Amino acid sequence: MADFVAKKVLFTSGKGGVGKSTLSTTYAKLLCAQGFEVLMIDCDVSLRTLDIMLSVSSMVLYDWYDIVEDNVNANSALITTDGPKLLAAPQGEISVTADDMKKLIRTYERQFDYIVLDCPAGVGPVFDAVLAVAELALIVSTPDNVCVRSAAVAAGKAADAGVESRLLINRFQKNITFGGRALNIDQVIDATGVQLAGVIPEDRALVLAMLNGELIDPNSKGVKAMERVIRRLNGEQVPLKI
Ligand SMILES: Nc1ncnc2c1ncn2[C@@H]1O[C@H](COP(=O)(O)OP(=O)(O)O)[C@@H](O)[C@H]1O
Ligand SMILES: [Mg+2]
Repeated sequence: MADFVAKKVLFTSGKGGVGKSTLSTTYAKLLCAQGFEVLMIDCDVSLRTLDIMLSVSSMVLYDWYDIVEDNVNANSALITTDGPKLLAAPQGEISVTADDMKKLIRTYERQFDYIVLDCPAGVGPVFDAVLAVAELALIVSTPDNVCVRSAAVAAGKAADAGVESRLLINRFQKNITFGGRALNIDQVIDATGVQLAGVIPEDRALVLAMLNGELIDPNSKGVKAMERVIRRLNGEQVPLKI
């Protein structure tokens, strides 16, 4: 058994549909391409999506709640994809506690270099449970007032739980201001109060990769932006390219 344990990184946002699953999947695939063993846990209870984004929905037999409840052994629930391994989200109404999440993570943390937890939108009980196991929260926000306000709430909860946060500004469009309603990068950073890890542009290639579960296009702007995010999170000084 390895003597290291996986680094646990969660993706969250106050608001839905801002790109958590897209960016967490891209992040996980890039780490795999660098040779790391990565586990993705779809934490969007009842709204399972990562199996589709990773093109393995027909392979889902069990979900991670089966591990919490000791219904199956650890390997049976793991789904193999071209990139990360996946634990699918449970469907239906379940209540998840911090102890459940800790048990789940203990089951897998010595098998992987990274565990990527894709959270549901908002700051409900699942997010609280995931905060109990995560070391880093990547807060995803699009550059608009509604999204930054809810991102700030999520970041506040992470801080209360003692989890470090970094900001990903997603779907940024340099020359489009939506009549002055879109926020610039400094405004998003100020409004969320979170240190920036990267700015990811609007990028159709990211959308297509998720729709078809395809390999990500290493030359697309969105993928390159996520590569720079990974380097910054590793402590490198990488200039912001927009
Ligand atoms: N950088 C991006 N450029 C273009 N479309 C994006 C980008 N990020 C996300 N999207 C699109 O936004 C929608 C919501 O993304 P998703 O990752 O499912 O969000 P969430 O997990 O936060 O609900 C999807 O249609 C996705 O393809
Ligand atoms: Mg999602």
